[in-house]
Amino acid sequence: MKITSAEFIISAVRPDQYPTDALPEIALAGRSNVGKSSLINRMIMRKNLARTSSQPGKTQQLNYYRINEQVYFVDFPGYGYARVSKTEREAWGRMIERYLKERNELKLVLLVIDIRHEPSKDDCLMYDWLKHFEIPTCIVVTKADKIPKSRWDKHIKMVKETLGADPRDAVIRFSSETGEGRDQLWEHILQTISG
Ligand code: GTP
Ligand code: MG
Repeated sequence: MKITSAEFIISAVRPDQYPTDALPEIALAGRSNVGKSSLINRMIMRKNLARTSSQPGKTQQLNYYRINEQVYFVDFPGYGYARVSKTEREAWGRMIERYLKERNELKLVLLVIDIRHEPSKDDCLMYDWLKHFEIPTCIVVTKADKIPKSRWDKHIKMVKETLGADPRDAVIRFSSETGEGRDQLWEHILQTISG
């Protein structure tokens, strides 16, 4: 995938701020610090367009990036950060639920999971939510560079089993560090938005 343009558009805190040009949207969900923003940066070959390791607790912003005038990446706030209050968590839940339920432009959610760890309860809840709303989902198992190759298969199997993954859902191994999985993920995204 050749990137000809990549722009940050908005940190939206309300639906009336979402873009109105009707381009397809690919959303990224996952725990705080799992590597969502890094994944976006690797996909678009920019070091720092998506803000990485931003201060956790910014629980109510959907960050929109427009790529090649063709598709948006929508970076969700990470979940599972311990110091977030119950009120904030609830606001996060309402915003995400509404987006997942009502956003017609949403074509695919990338559920980003750390290859090293068993998916958390929140990961499982998020996956169940996506299934419930019948949203096409791709499980992206990232930070592959953090464990030896010999353990990749075993860890990916563990991720699928813990999530109770639907065998029809794509699972892509990824590393923002090495770029592994990038071509495959672009292929999956382009196929999803063209079909
Ligand atoms: P929030 O925005 O807080 O939800 O976090 P995030 O999911 O956007 O994570 P972010 O991309 O900021 O990455 C968190 C940390 O993990 C950073 O220090 C990244 O450099 C590191 N990281 C992300 N992806 C990878 C990867 O594939 N390999 C390695 N080695 N480090 C990674
Ligand atoms: Mg981020």
